[in-house]
Amino acid sequence: MKKLMPFLTVFCALNGQKSDLRTYEDDPSSKVYQCYRAMHTNQTLEYVLQQKKRFLESGSYLLLTVHEALEKLTGYIDESDPDVSFSNHIHNYQTAQACRKLLPDCDWFHLVGLIHDIGKLLYLFDLPTWAIVGDTFPVGHPFSPKCIYYDFFKNNPDFAKPSIYQKHCGFDNVHFSWGHDEYLYQVLKASNTKLPKEAFYLIRYHSFYPFHREYDYLDLASDEDVAMLGYLKLFNACDLYSKVDEIIDYAAIKEYYDALIKKYLPEPLKFFRPGL
Ligand SMILES: [Fe+2]
Ligand SMILES: [Fe+2]
Repeated sequence: MKKLMPFLTVFCALNGQKSDLRTYEDDPSSKVYQCYRAMHTNQTLEYVLQQKKRFLESGSYLLLTVHEALEKLTGYIDESDPDVSFSNHIHNYQTAQACRKLLPDCDWFHLVGLIHDIGKLLYLFDLPTWAIVGDTFPVGHPFSPKCIYYDFFKNNPDFAKPSIYQKHCGFDNVHFSWGHDEYLYQVLKASNTKLPKEAFYLIRYHSFYPFHREYDYLDLASDEDVAMLGYLKLFNACDLYSKVDEIIDYAAIKEYYDALIKKYLPEPLKFFRPGL
Protein backbone atom coordinates (compact mmCIF):
# COMPACT_ATOMS: atom_id res chain seq x y z
CA MET A 1 0.00 0.00 0.00
CA LYS A 2 2.89 2.31 0.81
CA LYS A 3 4.07 1.90 -2.78
CA LEU A 4 0.67 2.92 -4.15
CA MET A 5 0.35 6.07 -2.07
CA PRO A 6 2.04 8.38 -4.61
CA PHE A 7 -0.44 7.22 -7.31
CA LEU A 8 -3.42 7.70 -5.03
CA THR A 9 -2.22 11.18 -4.17
CA VAL A 10 -1.86 12.03 -7.85
CA PHE A 11 -5.33 10.71 -8.70
CA CYS A 12 -7.01 12.53 -5.83
CA ALA A 13 -5.26 15.76 -6.74
CA LEU A 14 -6.09 15.40 -10.42
CA ASN A 15 -9.70 14.40 -9.87
CA GLY A 16 -10.20 17.37 -7.58
CA GLN A 17 -8.62 19.93 -9.85
CA LYS A 18 -9.70 19.07 -13.32
CA SER A 19 -13.34 18.09 -13.20
CA ASP A 20 -14.19 20.56 -15.97
CA LEU A 21 -12.35 18.54 -18.64
CA ARG A 22 -14.17 16.43 -21.26
CA THR A 23 -17.31 18.53 -21.31
CA TYR A 24 -19.17 17.75 -24.53
CA GLU A 25 -21.70 20.38 -25.41
CA ASP A 26 -24.89 19.96 -27.36
CA ASP A 27 -23.90 22.60 -29.89
CA PRO A 28 -24.31 21.63 -33.57
CA SER A 29 -21.98 24.43 -34.64
CA SER A 30 -19.01 23.05 -32.67
CA LYS A 31 -16.34 21.01 -34.45
CA VAL A 32 -16.34 18.46 -31.64
CA TYR A 33 -20.08 17.86 -32.08
CA GLN A 34 -19.76 17.59 -35.87
CA CYS A 35 -16.81 15.21 -35.59
CA TYR A 36 -18.71 12.81 -33.33
CA ARG A 37 -21.89 13.03 -35.37
CA ALA A 38 -19.98 11.92 -38.48
CA MET A 39 -17.96 9.33 -36.54
CA HIS A 40 -20.93 7.64 -34.91
CA THR A 41 -22.83 7.64 -38.18
CA ASN A 42 -20.03 6.25 -40.36
CA GLN A 43 -17.87 3.95 -38.23
CA THR A 44 -19.45 0.62 -39.08
CA LEU A 45 -17.93 -2.85 -38.98
CA GLU A 46 -17.72 -2.76 -42.76
CA TYR A 47 -15.92 0.59 -42.76
CA VAL A 48 -13.37 -0.63 -40.20
CA LEU A 49 -12.67 -3.83 -42.15
CA GLN A 50 -12.22 -1.78 -45.32
CA GLN A 51 -9.74 0.57 -43.67
CA LYS A 52 -7.74 -2.31 -42.18
CA LYS A 53 -7.48 -3.93 -45.57
CA ARG A 54 -6.66 -0.64 -47.32
CA PHE A 55 -3.84 0.24 -44.93
CA LEU A 56 -2.47 -3.03 -43.64
CA GLU A 57 -2.40 -4.87 -46.96
CA SER A 58 -1.20 -2.09 -49.25
CA GLY A 59 2.47 -3.06 -48.99
CA SER A 60 3.37 0.63 -49.15
CA TYR A 61 4.95 2.61 -46.33
CA LEU A 62 5.98 6.05 -45.23
CA LEU A 63 9.35 5.71 -43.49
CA LEU A 64 9.75 8.13 -40.60
CA THR A 65 11.76 8.39 -37.41
CA VAL A 66 9.81 9.18 -34.24
CA HIS A 67 10.98 12.79 -34.36
CA GLU A 68 9.96 13.11 -38.00
CA ALA A 69 6.54 11.68 -37.13
CA LEU A 70 6.19 14.14 -34.25
CA GLU A 71 7.18 16.94 -36.61
CA LYS A 72 4.29 15.96 -38.89
CA LEU A 73 1.94 16.76 -36.01
CA THR A 74 3.25 20.30 -35.70
CA GLY A 75 0.22 22.45 -36.34
CA TYR A 76 -2.23 19.53 -36.24
CA ILE A 77 -5.05 20.28 -33.80
CA ASP A 78 -7.32 17.48 -32.62
CA GLU A 79 -10.81 18.72 -33.45
CA SER A 80 -12.50 16.01 -31.39
CA ASP A 81 -10.90 17.27 -28.19
CA PRO A 82 -12.76 19.97 -26.28
CA ASP A 83 -9.75 20.60 -24.03
CA VAL A 84 -6.96 21.57 -26.40
CA SER A 85 -6.50 24.25 -28.97
CA PHE A 86 -2.77 23.80 -29.45
CA SER A 87 -0.69 21.67 -31.75
CA ASN A 88 -0.61 17.92 -31.13
CA HIS A 89 3.17 17.57 -31.03
CA ILE A 90 3.16 19.69 -27.84
CA HIS A 91 0.57 17.35 -26.33
CA ASN A 92 2.83 14.35 -26.96
CA TYR A 93 5.73 15.89 -25.05
CA GLN A 94 3.44 17.03 -22.25
CA THR A 95 2.04 13.53 -21.88
CA ALA A 96 5.51 12.01 -21.89
CA GLN A 97 6.70 14.37 -19.20
CA ALA A 98 3.61 13.63 -17.09
CA CYS A 99 4.28 9.88 -17.49
CA ARG A 100 7.84 10.44 -16.35
CA LYS A 101 6.65 12.27 -13.25
CA LEU A 102 4.05 9.64 -12.36
CA LEU A 103 6.18 6.49 -12.83
CA PRO A 104 9.81 7.66 -12.84
CA ASP A 105 11.29 4.15 -13.02
CA CYS A 106 9.11 2.83 -15.84
CA ASP A 107 10.88 4.17 -18.92
CA TRP A 108 8.71 2.40 -21.56
CA PHE A 109 5.73 4.23 -20.03
CA HIS A 110 7.44 7.55 -20.78
CA LEU A 111 8.04 6.51 -24.37
CA VAL A 112 4.37 5.53 -24.75
CA GLY A 113 3.51 9.06 -23.63
CA LEU A 114 5.75 10.49 -26.32
CA ILE A 115 4.47 8.35 -29.20
CA HIS A 116 0.88 7.52 -28.26
CA ASP A 117 -0.70 10.02 -30.65
CA ILE A 118 1.69 9.92 -33.61
CA GLY A 119 -0.85 7.77 -35.43
CA LYS A 120 -2.70 11.04 -35.99
CA LEU A 121 -0.42 11.51 -38.97
CA LEU A 122 -3.24 9.63 -40.68
CA TYR A 123 -4.38 13.11 -41.64
CA LEU A 124 -1.58 13.07 -44.25
CA PHE A 125 -3.63 10.50 -46.17
CA ASP A 126 -6.70 12.71 -46.39
CA LEU A 127 -8.77 10.73 -43.94
CA PRO A 128 -11.67 12.62 -42.38
CA THR A 129 -11.22 13.75 -38.78
CA TRP A 130 -13.80 11.22 -37.59
CA ALA A 131 -11.54 8.38 -38.81
CA ILE A 132 -8.46 9.70 -36.97
CA VAL A 133 -9.35 11.05 -33.53
CA GLY A 134 -11.95 10.83 -30.78
CA ASP A 135 -13.03 8.20 -28.27
CA THR A 136 -12.95 4.66 -29.63
CA PHE A 137 -15.55 1.89 -29.31
CA PRO A 138 -16.11 -1.64 -30.58
CA VAL A 139 -17.90 -2.17 -33.89
CA GLY A 140 -19.87 -5.31 -34.68
CA HIS A 141 -21.34 -5.04 -31.20
CA PRO A 142 -24.22 -2.96 -29.75
CA PHE A 143 -23.01 0.56 -29.01
CA SER A 144 -22.87 1.49 -25.36
CA PRO A 145 -25.10 4.31 -24.06
CA LYS A 146 -22.04 5.26 -21.99
CA CYS A 147 -20.32 6.50 -25.18
CA ILE A 148 -20.41 10.28 -25.49
CA TYR A 149 -22.97 11.51 -28.03
CA TYR A 150 -24.61 8.07 -27.99
CA ASP A 151 -27.71 9.29 -29.87
CA PHE A 152 -25.67 9.79 -33.06
CA PHE A 153 -25.28 6.02 -33.27
CA LYS A 154 -28.96 5.83 -34.15
CA ASN A 155 -27.95 6.93 -37.67
CA ASN A 156 -25.35 4.16 -37.93
CA PRO A 157 -26.35 1.27 -40.25
CA ASP A 158 -25.11 -1.17 -37.57
CA PHE A 159 -27.36 0.27 -34.88
CA ALA A 160 -29.43 -2.44 -33.19
CA LYS A 161 -27.56 -5.26 -34.94
CA PRO A 162 -26.56 -8.11 -32.60
CA SER A 163 -22.98 -8.72 -31.49
CA ILE A 164 -20.71 -10.85 -33.66
CA TYR A 165 -18.44 -11.65 -30.69
CA GLN A 166 -18.37 -14.30 -27.99
CA LYS A 167 -18.79 -13.09 -24.44
CA HIS A 168 -15.49 -12.15 -22.75
CA CYS A 169 -13.55 -12.87 -25.95
CA GLY A 170 -11.09 -10.10 -25.04
CA PHE A 171 -10.63 -6.76 -26.78
CA ASP A 172 -7.82 -8.09 -28.92
CA ASN A 173 -10.44 -10.21 -30.68
CA VAL A 174 -12.75 -7.25 -31.27
CA HIS A 175 -12.70 -4.70 -34.09
CA PHE A 176 -12.60 -1.11 -32.88
CA SER A 177 -13.52 2.12 -34.62
CA TRP A 178 -10.72 3.09 -37.02
CA GLY A 179 -8.41 5.84 -35.84
CA HIS A 180 -4.93 6.78 -34.64
CA ASP A 181 -4.90 4.28 -31.76
CA GLU A 182 -5.47 1.18 -33.89
CA TYR A 183 -3.26 2.53 -36.68
CA LEU A 184 -0.20 3.10 -34.48
CA TYR A 185 -0.75 -0.23 -32.74
CA GLN A 186 -0.65 -1.94 -36.14
CA VAL A 187 2.46 0.01 -37.20
CA LEU A 188 4.31 -1.03 -34.04
CA LYS A 189 3.06 -4.61 -34.20
CA ALA A 190 4.57 -4.92 -37.68
CA SER A 191 7.88 -3.48 -36.43
CA ASN A 192 10.56 -5.17 -34.44
CA THR A 193 10.12 -3.23 -31.21
CA LYS A 194 11.26 -4.09 -27.71
CA LEU A 195 8.21 -2.57 -26.09
CA PRO A 196 6.37 -4.71 -23.51
CA LYS A 197 2.80 -5.89 -24.14
CA GLU A 198 1.50 -3.26 -21.72
CA ALA A 199 2.85 -0.53 -24.00
CA PHE A 200 1.00 -1.99 -26.99
CA TYR A 201 -2.14 -2.19 -24.91
CA LEU A 202 -1.98 1.47 -23.88
CA ILE A 203 -1.40 2.60 -27.44
CA ARG A 204 -4.31 0.56 -28.75
CA TYR A 205 -6.89 1.37 -26.09
CA HIS A 206 -5.95 4.78 -24.71
CA SER A 207 -9.06 6.40 -26.27
CA PHE A 208 -11.41 3.63 -25.17
CA TYR A 209 -13.11 5.86 -22.62
CA PRO A 210 -16.35 3.80 -22.40
CA PHE A 211 -14.15 1.10 -20.82
CA HIS A 212 -11.45 2.87 -18.85
CA ARG A 213 -13.67 5.67 -17.58
CA GLU A 214 -17.19 4.21 -17.65
CA TYR A 215 -16.32 0.53 -17.04
CA ASP A 216 -18.61 -0.56 -19.85
CA TYR A 217 -18.08 -3.28 -22.47
CA LEU A 218 -17.19 -5.67 -19.66
CA ASP A 219 -19.18 -8.30 -21.57
CA LEU A 220 -16.35 -8.30 -24.14
CA ALA A 221 -13.48 -7.90 -21.68
CA SER A 222 -11.22 -10.81 -20.78
CA ASP A 223 -9.49 -11.20 -17.43
CA GLU A 224 -6.39 -9.68 -19.03
CA ASP A 225 -8.34 -6.59 -20.12
CA VAL A 226 -9.57 -6.06 -16.58
CA ALA A 227 -6.04 -6.53 -15.27
CA MET A 228 -4.81 -3.84 -17.70
CA LEU A 229 -7.35 -1.29 -16.51
CA GLY A 230 -4.94 0.06 -13.90
CA TYR A 231 -2.36 0.89 -16.56
CA LEU A 232 -5.03 2.56 -18.71
CA LYS A 233 -6.15 4.70 -15.78
CA LEU A 234 -2.59 5.72 -14.97
CA PHE A 235 -1.87 6.56 -18.58
CA ASN A 236 -5.12 8.46 -18.99
CA ALA A 237 -4.21 10.66 -16.03
CA CYS A 238 -1.07 11.68 -17.94
CA ASP A 239 -2.81 11.99 -21.33
CA LEU A 240 -5.78 14.01 -20.12
CA TYR A 241 -4.48 16.14 -17.30
CA SER A 242 -1.23 17.31 -18.88
CA LYS A 243 -3.04 19.57 -21.37
CA VAL A 244 -1.75 22.86 -20.08
CA ASP A 245 -0.30 25.90 -21.78
CA GLU A 246 3.16 25.21 -20.44
CA ILE A 247 6.30 26.01 -22.41
CA ILE A 248 8.48 22.94 -22.85
CA ASP A 249 12.24 23.20 -23.12
CA TYR A 250 12.66 20.58 -25.86
CA ALA A 251 16.46 20.83 -25.94
CA ALA A 252 16.63 19.89 -22.25
CA ILE A 253 14.59 16.69 -22.63
CA LYS A 254 15.54 15.56 -26.14
CA GLU A 255 18.53 13.51 -25.05
CA TYR A 256 16.45 11.51 -22.56
CA TYR A 257 13.81 10.57 -25.13
CA ASP A 258 16.37 9.88 -27.84
CA ALA A 259 17.87 7.21 -25.59
CA LEU A 260 14.44 5.63 -25.04
CA ILE A 261 13.67 5.59 -28.74
CA LYS A 262 16.99 3.87 -29.38
CA LYS A 263 16.36 1.33 -26.63
CA TYR A 264 12.86 0.28 -27.69
CA LEU A 265 12.20 1.12 -31.33
CA PRO A 266 13.68 0.34 -34.73
CA GLU A 267 14.02 3.43 -36.88
CA PRO A 268 12.74 4.50 -39.24
CA LEU A 269 9.28 3.18 -38.41
CA LYS A 270 7.19 1.88 -41.31
CA PHE A 271 3.88 3.75 -41.36
CA PHE A 272 1.35 2.01 -43.57
CA ARG A 273 0.22 4.05 -46.54
CA PRO A 274 -3.29 3.38 -47.79
CA GLY A 275 -3.94 1.51 -50.98
CA LEU A 276 -6.87 2.43 -53.20
FE1 LIG B 1 -4.83 9.67 -28.61
FE1 LIG C 1 -3.25 12.03 -26.29
